[in-house]
Amino acid sequence: MAATRSAAQGILSDDKADVRMHVVDLLKKAYWMEIETVMSYIANSVNPDGVRAQEIIESLQEDIQEELGHAQQFAARIKELYGVVPGSLDFTAEQTYLQPPSHQSDIVHVI
Ligand SMILES: [Fe+2]
Repeated sequence: MAATRSAAQGILSDDKADVRMHVVDLLKKAYWMEIETVMSYIANSVNPDGVRAQEIIESLQEDIQEELGHAQQFAARIKELYGVVPGSLDFTAEQTYLQPPSHQSDIVHVI
């Protein structure tokens, strides 16, 4: 028998709507975590001063693109599961630990 799968089967089926909504909620949380990480990494890749900062800045600049890609993948999966990718008004910041330091030369804080 051919291994075909339609929307009537698996996670996309009508009888899996509750499970699907739960998964979409988890995906939205993961999506926001990636977005918030991007925000924190942008700040921490631009703010630091000092000769020791350059390596960290370059590393974070690469990470920003990676985390942005993760956010896009979560967004795509939300849509695949018939969810709606939320707008910015639904965002609530949670990453207290990724805030920039009060002194821009405090590269140890960023690390
Ligand atoms: Fe990520």
